[in-house]
Amino acid sequence: MEEKRARKRLVLVPVPAQGHISPMMQLAKTLHLKGFSITVAQTKFNYFNPPDDSTDFQFVTIPESLPESDFKNLGPIRFLHKLNKECQVSFKDCLGQLLIQQSHEIACVIYDEFMYFAEAAAKEFNLPNVIFSTTSATAFACRSVFEKLYAENALVPFNEPKEEQNELVPEFHPLRYKDFPVSRWASLESIMEIYRNTVDKRTASSVIINTTSCLENSSLLWLQQRLEIPVYPVGPLHMVASAPTSLLEENKSCIEWLNKRSQNSVIFVSLGSLALMEINEVMETASGLDSSNQHFLWVIRPGSIRESEWIESLPEEFSQMVSDRGYIVKWAPQKEVLAHPAVGGFWSHCGWNSTLESIGEGVPMICKPFSGDQKVNASYLDRVWKIGVQVEGDLDRGAVERAVKRLMVGEEGEKMRKRAVSLKEKLRASVRSGGSSHNSLEEFVNFFKTVKQ
Ligand code: UDX
Repeated sequence: MEEKRARKRLVLVPVPAQGHISPMMQLAKTLHLKGFSITVAQTKFNYFNPPDDSTDFQFVTIPESLPESDFKNLGPIRFLHKLNKECQVSFKDCLGQLLIQQSHEIACVIYDEFMYFAEAAAKEFNLPNVIFSTTSATAFACRSVFEKLYAENALVPFNEPKEEQNELVPEFHPLRYKDFPVSRWASLESIMEIYRNTVDKRTASSVIINTTSCLENSSLLWLQQRLEIPVYPVGPLHMVASAPTSLLEENKSCIEWLNKRSQNSVIFVSLGSLALMEINEVMETASGLDSSNQHFLWVIRPGSIRESEWIESLPEEFSQMVSDRGYIVKWAPQKEVLAHPAVGGFWSHCGWNSTLESIGEGVPMICKPFSGDQKVNASYLDRVWKIGVQVEGDLDRGAVERAVKRLMVGEEGEKMRKRAVSLKEKLRASVRSGGSSHNSLEEFVNFFKTVKQ
């Protein structure tokens, strides 16, 4: 009881999307274990129902009034613009109420880099605020470089010939112009407005990043220099604290199916919570997987195929191509799947959580980024860490078959697997006592535990 009264409170503001809620809740759990009380301020949109074991956390709702259909109609980037505008005032009210109700001190507001409206509210009440980056340090740095080049009119336009897009970005090797985190979902102006807001530290006292220095040391140093405030790489957070946060129901039957497969014989195919495929891309993927002769576990999220509810309306050929060696689910327990000995490779859109989860289990990847930061991650997987095969250009059956065989059969894939396993060990060491992420977390915690406000 005594200990509880002494706890300082942290207010956390996640983006209401799976790839952001998960790392924010892992951070919440981690900081709670370190002795803080936790309040999670969620929007009504995509409200995540807390699991039973989070009764120690307080959940509050930011009373925005965006219709559910806005996300579908506007797409993620324009939706984020609207959400930030909409939440600005309502979050101030919410924080004001919390300050009246709280018997103990609010140490700071930690907001997802894309929920930048939270900074103004924290400032109004003289509360310290901290940015939490759920993307990679390199993606954060890239947004900054990208925004600067755009302001200087020095960006290679994205409709220029392909060769120019292949050029390396000065000071940012090995990234090419085409790896910049551009979204398919919005105009360049709209993306830039979001990026300007995410790279502007405003009054933030520090930045926490879900990464580790053994993966991104040079990007972290670059950010530290540019931002001139402490940058704390504390990840991969899923290896520090587990926090079940699935918005969709996990189909665990795939684990039974995996139990019947031999070691490293299955390729896991999953494109995260937002990516969309065209029907012809699904058909090409199915055909390529079929002719690769490998077993595959494929997550096809409802609504992830354009103009189709799920797989029912696909051409008949589809079920013939997947019935022999494939197993399809709507949503999988991804971390458990990646940890399964039968899984030898991961075909991924390279969302940052999927990337960390795959490296955390030593599973090499086939990288087919869909949008935004995923291109940066794919480029690093293929050309920096050398544990991935990036598939560029249109998705056709030949490219799918070749990529799967490169990863799953033969010497090249074996070498990638060895490198992935060695990286996994480094990640594990970084979150263990004395490791770089562990030390970084301790520094952050000590700062807020000891500072007098
Ligand atoms: C989005 C962006 O795309 C990503 O690049 C950014 O870094 C975070 O926000 P998302 O596309 O959903 O996220 O991808 P990702 O970051 O990989 O997150 C997906 C999460 O869903 C992972 O934690 C993964 O384990 C989980 N998942 C996915 C499941 O639990 N089951 C599944 O079947 C599929």
